[in-house]
Amino acid sequence: MSNSIEANGLTKRYGDKLAVNSLDLDIDGEIYGLLGPNGSGKTTTVNLLTTMLSITAGSASVCGYDVRTQPKKVRECISYIPQYIAADIKLTGRENVTLFAELYGIRDASERKRKVDECLEIMGLSDRADDITKSYSGGMNRRLEIAQALVHDPRVLFLDEPTVGLDVSGRRSIWEHILKLKRSGMTIFVTTHQMEEAEHYCNRVGIIRVGNKIEEGRPSELVDRMNDVVSIGSNGDLPSSLKDRVTVLKVEDREITFLPDESLSPEDISRAYTSAGIEVFSKSVRRPTLEDVFLLSINSGTEDIGEWDRNQFRNMMRRR
Ligand SMILES: Nc1ncnc2c1ncn2[C@@H]1O[C@H](COP(=O)(O)OP(=O)(O)O)[C@@H](O)[C@H]1O
Ligand SMILES: [Mg+2]
Repeated sequence: MSNSIEANGLTKRYGDKLAVNSLDLDIDGEIYGLLGPNGSGKTTTVNLLTTMLSITAGSASVCGYDVRTQPKKVRECISYIPQYIAADIKLTGRENVTLFAELYGIRDASERKRKVDECLEIMGLSDRADDITKSYSGGMNRRLEIAQALVHDPRVLFLDEPTVGLDVSGRRSIWEHILKLKRSGMTIFVTTHQMEEAEHYCNRVGIIRVGNKIEEGRPSELVDRMNDVVSIGSNGDLPSSLKDRVTVLKVEDREITFLPDESLSPEDISRAYTSAGIEVFSKSVRRPTLEDVFLLSINSGTEDIGEWDRNQFRNMMRRR
């Protein structure tokens, strides 16, 4: 039986607004990260794949079941942890998970207890299972939500922004547990805008902008395809002679980070600053991270991404 997620031309409109635009996906036995800025259609995509929303055009299947015509079958083989959900804070962790086991129809009491214990154990909550969840940290609450989602043995797990609002150790713990689930054979579909986390933990990522997928691959592949990025601290803007020859990725304080065109040498860049009379305080050239790949893909082009933009982007991604 497949754990796969497939989408062909998956599209969602809200009135005139195109939230997901002809998305193709083919995901199996991996942690797949859907990356995109706010409003790019990540949550809508998850809602379509989990049968929470109706599809405008195209098709999708999960575990081999058609999302449109076999929604019940799809729901039986998945779990979905939305971005905003809350456990009942007056109940203990065990009670919260038991509630889900009941909802999912595990009638036999001893079977239910075994399953609840197992899910709490997997998510590292056994020690605190009998404390009320009001006393849990943010990270523990997230883990509890995942524990609840595990009681019916999903083959595919959907998580929408699982680490938002958590501290560093909470984030790491969530990801370590997600890795564990993946190793047990589950397919994991996760949305995030945390690039460092995606680079570290996702087997593959897809970057979307205005509902359109513009890049996909292993984080290391995407990073390897991109040229070195340059950061310059100066007392001015980017010299106008460089404006058409670099793609600006980020501007912070007085430091600007950009991807130079292939034709531009480090000397050209220095010369451009000198001729513009701009004083350079600091200059660094480094290998890109997934965040740079992400910034490049969402910053290149301004309007909807057509073929031309996509080709331009591909060219910029190609290594020297
Ligand atoms: N129920 C809705 N009605 C109308 N527009 C919506 C609705 N839900 C989301 N949108 C719009 O669709 C786009 C994608 O939203 P969403 O999928 O929530 O993005 P993300 O999760 O990437 O932040 C946004 O422009 C958002 O405003
Ligand atoms: Mg969202």
